Amino acid sequence: MSYVSEKSGKDGKPSYSKGLEGVIIGESKKCFIDGERGYLAYVGIPIEQLAENSTYEEVCFLLLHDRLPTERELRDFKKLLYSYREVPSEVYSIIRSSARYGVHPMAILRLAVDYLSIFDEEAEINTDNLNYIKALRLISKLHTITASIGRVIKGLEPVHPLEDVSMSANWLWMYKGQKPSEEEERIFDIILILHAEHEINASTFSARVVVSSFTDIYSAVVAAIGSLKGPLHGGANEDVMNMLSEIKDPSNVEQYVRSKLSRKEKIPGFGHRVYKNYDPRAAILKSIAEKLAEKNSRVKHWLEIGKRIEKFMIENMGQKGIYPNVDFFSGIVMSYLGIEPRMFTPIFATGRIVGWLAHILEQLKDNRIFRPRIIYTGPEEINYVPIDQRS
Ligand SMILES: CC(C)(COP(=O)(O)OP(=O)(O)OC[C@H]1O[C@@H](n2cnc3c(N)ncnc32)[C@H](O)[C@@H]1OP(=O)(O)O)[C@@H](O)C(=O)NCCC(=O)NCCS
Repeated sequence: MSYVSEKSGKDGKPSYSKGLEGVIIGESKKCFIDGERGYLAYVGIPIEQLAENSTYEEVCFLLLHDRLPTERELRDFKKLLYSYREVPSEVYSIIRSSARYGVHPMAILRLAVDYLSIFDEEAEINTDNLNYIKALRLISKLHTITASIGRVIKGLEPVHPLEDVSMSANWLWMYKGQKPSEEEERIFDIILILHAEHEINASTFSARVVVSSFTDIYSAVVAAIGSLKGPLHGGANEDVMNMLSEIKDPSNVEQYVRSKLSRKEKIPGFGHRVYKNYDPRAAILKSIAEKLAEKNSRVKHWLEIGKRIEKFMIENMGQKGIYPNVDFFSGIVMSYLGIEPRMFTPIFATGRIVGWLAHILEQLKDNRIFRPRIIYTGPEEINYVPIDQRS
């Protein structure tokens, strides 16, 4: 008896790659990564150019439409996006009540987005036009939800969204209760741009798999949030900051990293399945942190520790292709904005929501349900033994 599909590999032999390494799961126009040279582009545009010249709103349009908007299109797009910011009062209530249990903000986010679906009468209608509008609503509302979670876990009341400011200014307003400076707004915008999309990573793949059954798009986003939450994925940015705090002083770096590696533990913020070179997003965040360190002593301190870890890791692990990833320097930059580590992964989700939705809509346009195989490793055919005859 054959336990795998005849189609699954050459000569009838099963093709198998643990963690799906190197496996192609479909086609996409959203993102290109060349991991060998550390290159990343959204819809053909290099990430460095987007971080330098674009805005999060424009990147949202780019990812959803596979092209840059005209001035008028961008104006209309923003108007629509901004008009969807408010969430039902029940969503604020569930944030408050779940925060009382002291669970992680990502668990609250997962719950709140799931709950939000209850208030969308059109959640189950899967037409292209409606799904596009639902995607815009979800982008805007997820921003409100993550900022509100950030307030509530600090024991504060949510601050309602503004209608006439950028996505970044609005998020910082809702999180801090005061309007950000132009510099803060721009830094946060770059953080959102850098996290907006990243090909078929674990959370985006989860979203595509879930929606491939033609379920509602909320279910796919909830799955993506659950996946992002893990320490091997989006959870790493919080772990990096905790590691920097534990190390305390640059002189402790070498001993700390050596002993972690000797216990076969991973150093958060390093390594990547696709990049075998410097992650270009990490390079952008590092250069922002370097500029901020010139005027901010806390950033200077964290960066000193961070750079020592980086040097040690590249010297010792660089030959294995292990370099800093997006999560390594992002926390240092977010700390400058007064954001606490528990909120780093929800901010990753705040940027990535558009990437998830762009992939979900792309999947729905040319769908085939995901249904791979698994190599069966249990016993071969055996007879059922009645319970009174089992030893
Ligand atoms: C990102 C990550 C999950 C990729 O996983 P992967 O492609 O399955 O790679 P593996 O875990 O198989 O690692 C390959 C080798 O590099 C080592 N390695 C990978 N990342 C490492 C890290 N951060 N610290 C130390 N060693 C690392 C592994 O121990 C393994 O070594 P081995 O071949 O001697 O066993 C992994 O690098 C990791 O756990 N990094 C830390 C968490 C993180 O920063 N995640 C955010 C990603 S954006």
